[in-house]
Amino acid sequence: MNPNRKPIIAGNWKMYKTAAEAVALVNALKAEVAGIETVETVVCPPFTALAVVQPALAGSNVQLAAQNVHWEKEGAFTGEVSAPMLKELGVRYAVIGHSERRQFFGETDAGVNKRAKAALANGLRPIVCVGETLKEREANRTEQVIKTQITGGLAGLSKNEMLETVIAYEPVWAIGTGKTASPQQAQDVHAFIRKLIASLFDADTGARVRIQYGGSVKPDNAKELLGQPDIDGALVGGASLKADGFAAIVKAGVQA
Ligand code: 13P
Repeated sequence: MNPNRKPIIAGNWKMYKTAAEAVALVNALKAEVAGIETVETVVCPPFTALAVVQPALAGSNVQLAAQNVHWEKEGAFTGEVSAPMLKELGVRYAVIGHSERRQFFGETDAGVNKRAKAALANGLRPIVCVGETLKEREANRTEQVIKTQITGGLAGLSKNEMLETVIAYEPVWAIGTGKTASPQQAQDVHAFIRKLIASLFDADTGARVRIQYGGSVKPDNAKELLGQPDIDGALVGGASLKADGFAAIVKAGVQA
């Protein structure tokens, strides 16, 4: 981590937690992380819980994110949710292009780009996810895959928009597998992404953009991952579903 970039630890709850369970979880979490200001703490509940989680978080230091966002403000798009709808509920961030969306729902870099632009136009900060599969890593294609995802997904953003955006590097083979990238493997890709952003925008943007790592982040490996120079936070799946475990990762961010 780097003192010029505030670490951001986000819990992606995926398709877990009813609305009632979500409120119970954030009530426990906000007590655990109360007073922590050096790390940004974010939760990404399912859409169905956003409206009840928002008032539960009011006045706390925990911010709200959605797990996706559509590019149109309204229309005949069954099953989708727009940026103005999320904004009205106090949502601050939107996860875009998660590998599960790409893998199971056919999302593409072009769609990621449209979603990210709509989020930014409506005052939401995108968390744009990128990452290679095991097959791609084994074929030494990691950098090429990431480059394609970043140039496509972030095409046409202004410098200011890029600085509002968070990139999440999530190697697909590390998600939900208990197999985390080693701190060095993660650091290498983060450094590559930062250099790429510097070349697509400018050196200042590269130095300031925040890049999270995701993939089997747990309380016991968080500190070492977050201690890497180009890792500015974590996008946490399974371990974000319990308040004490997730708070331990946030606290690891404070110490890193
Ligand atoms: P796990 O932490 O469960 O591996 O999930 C990572 C992830 O996909 C976060 O978006």
